[in-house]
Amino acid sequence: MTMSIKELKGKDMLCLKEFTPEQVKYLIELGLDLKRRYHAGERILNTLNGKSIAMIFEKPSTRTRVSLEVAAYQLGAQPITLGWNELQLGRGEPIKDTARVLSRFVNGITARVKNHNDLIELANYADIPVINALSDLSHPMQVIADYMTVYEKKGKFKGLKLAFIGDGSDNMVHSLMIAASQLGIDFYLGSPKDLKPNNEIFKAAKSFAEISGSNIVITEDPLEAVDKADVVYTDVFVSMGQEDIAEAKKKLLKPYQVNVKLMERANNNAIFLHCLPAHRGEEVTDDVIEGPWSAVWDEAENRLHSEKAILTSLIP
Ligand code: CP
Ligand code: NVA
Repeated sequence: MTMSIKELKGKDMLCLKEFTPEQVKYLIELGLDLKRRYHAGERILNTLNGKSIAMIFEKPSTRTRVSLEVAAYQLGAQPITLGWNELQLGRGEPIKDTARVLSRFVNGITARVKNHNDLIELANYADIPVINALSDLSHPMQVIADYMTVYEKKGKFKGLKLAFIGDGSDNMVHSLMIAASQLGIDFYLGSPKDLKPNNEIFKAAKSFAEISGSNIVITEDPLEAVDKADVVYTDVFVSMGQEDIAEAKKKLLKPYQVNVKLMERANNNAIFLHCLPAHRGEEVTDDVIEGPWSAVWDEAENRLHSEKAILTSLIP
């Protein structure tokens, strides 16, 4: 590792486009190192002894909430989990006031929000790092765990092909596409033409790709996207907060289900990833998520180790 942890102390993590490829690689490597140490019996690290972290959730969560709380515990920090509506935020206290008050009490904030702009406002007014625990735009913490899993299974990044099949406007697509372009992975998106990635994210990914040499390809044909892929990724057809357009999205995305026929077009030793929660029979079939390709449980475990890497690196 060429960089030092000091370079990241105090930094927000809102979207991976605000990170250099070296910083992203560093977090992945640190996550893998912490995982090795955890399995060798070194469970309590105490690198954030005496620190407190506010963890705000405006939407439900299983993995992110539990892995963040356990990660904080293993680092010696106190996690304080707060539902949006338990805070005065739910009664209309401005985000900017909440940010300044929490900055006087705690050493870092993680937040899962409906609107990415709220996260930006929180970060603008907080004196402490604000870490995105999922927004409508991106899910950077998940992607550090995802690429840890890719490295564990494939032993490299450069030259791999990752295919995302499904909703092209999904928060996971944005974070996966940015990190793929930083890591030199070819990113293929198989998605309906009406569900395109955010343009700013796409442009940022393109500029990272010019340097790393990765290809970013968007096609409406899921078979073309998945052809000879090393990693096949999907996410729910209907994200949290999109319940009002659920039926329309499910109809549009029906041809984009990851099933055995699709997996057979990928490379022989391809792996299947999903950030979870999964809806079997919608975006993925049971025989794929339970089948030989599936690395989703290792991927889920990696949330714990990646969270430790992120918290210990960013929180001063
Ligand atoms: N993958 C993920 O973020 O899961 P949760 O919504 O359960 O946190
Ligand atoms: N796209 C999904 C990801 C869940 C982890 C959502 O936002 O609901």
